[in-house]
Amino acid sequence: MSDMTISKDIMHIGASDKELNLFEGQYNLKNGMSYNSYLIKDDKNVILDTIDERVTNIWLEKLEKALDGEKPDYLIISHMEPDHAYNIGILAEKYPEMKLVGNQITFNILANFFKFDFSNRKFVVMEGDILDIGKHKLQFFMAPMVHWPEVMVTYEQTEKILFSADGFGKFGALDVEENWDDEARRYYFGIVGKYGMQVQALLKKASNLDINMICPLHGPILKENLEYYLNKYDIWSRYEPEEDGVYIACSSIYGNTLKAAKKMTEILKEKGIKNVVLGDLTKDDWAEAVSNAFKYSKLIVASSSYNTGLFPPMDYFLHRLKERNFQKRKVGIIENGSWAPSAGKCMKNILQDMKDIEIIEPVITIKSTMTDDNLEQMKNLADEISFN
Ligand SMILES: Cc1cc2nc3c(=O)[nH]c(=O)nc-3n(C[C@H](O)[C@H](O)[C@H](O)COP(=O)(O)O)c2cc1C
Ligand SMILES: [Fe+2]
Ligand SMILES: [Fe+2]
Repeated sequence: MSDMTISKDIMHIGASDKELNLFEGQYNLKNGMSYNSYLIKDDKNVILDTIDERVTNIWLEKLEKALDGEKPDYLIISHMEPDHAYNIGILAEKYPEMKLVGNQITFNILANFFKFDFSNRKFVVMEGDILDIGKHKLQFFMAPMVHWPEVMVTYEQTEKILFSADGFGKFGALDVEENWDDEARRYYFGIVGKYGMQVQALLKKASNLDINMICPLHGPILKENLEYYLNKYDIWSRYEPEEDGVYIACSSIYGNTLKAAKKMTEILKEKGIKNVVLGDLTKDDWAEAVSNAFKYSKLIVASSSYNTGLFPPMDYFLHRLKERNFQKRKVGIIENGSWAPSAGKCMKNILQDMKDIEIIEPVITIKSTMTDDNLEQMKNLADEISFN
């Protein structure tokens, strides 16, 4: 159970949705999703982001309770995506005096989502601007493309809290006990993997701030060991491997390529490589497969041929990697085909389109079932992959 208490004046008013199975229409949720929203009470009361439609009522109740009869003066919109912005209309209507805080792009996007007239309620901020609400001073930093173009983070100077928008978020409801790294990595590479450079720019800004606590829009509030999380984001956004090891991604129609991939796993382990993870792309969650490919230093792809092309689960996987700027890796390729193997060439073509990918030659070709020659080739591949 995450401890979401912040301080006397700053309250978490977010909610979890444990019924949701699919986030943004494509990410499987194992343990639901959480949406955070915050209230700062001071001379002026400030709400940081609204919430997803599905948890509107819980959020409104929490907000009213936290306001305790007072009214909000400002709503800071860090991100216009509906999982946080859905309730802007409801809130703006309920509190006609409340100003909306955003940057110019925020208001351009807001106009597409909401048809009410907010012209005299706009509070437009720019990089480094400070909103002084009494004891608390809120400073804004733009974080374009960490996840959408209008994203900005808010740094509260007095309590030294970074409200980091989608950054440092994770999948999963707040009351589940699960490893932060895995679901935060899957979330990170899922939603912002493509924008490593922009994440680096945000980290640079954050490095100039003295941060006591990170309050993201999803997942637990990070209070201790902040260096740990900042370091993970630094590694991920530089596309560096997090751990030495091999991820073997396999897509097999009848199971013979999978058999070879299992054999490959054994060979690598015999070579003394501890981290060898085999993924079955026909069954496993694709975002987890993508996350694993980024996590480990080496990748092996193994797939059946399909209609002079590539078996779709592998095609899908490689394109999801490409979309997320997969780079800086050594990759081994195993193909399988019964009459005219075509998978290897297809995998190579997609991989060669990526930056800084070294393909280990030769591509191993299995004709239906593994031969002794194939075994030798796989041992050679293991040597190639383990020796740097
Ligand atoms: C729809 C379909 C299309 C296929 N297309 C090809 C092909 O173009 N070339 C080829 O050599 N094998 C093709 N195959 C055969 C498989 O790729 C081949 O049997 C392979 O050994 C399967 O490996 P697996 O046991 O790991 O699935 C196709 C199979 C299916 C079901
Ligand atoms: Fe987002
Ligand atoms: Fe979000």
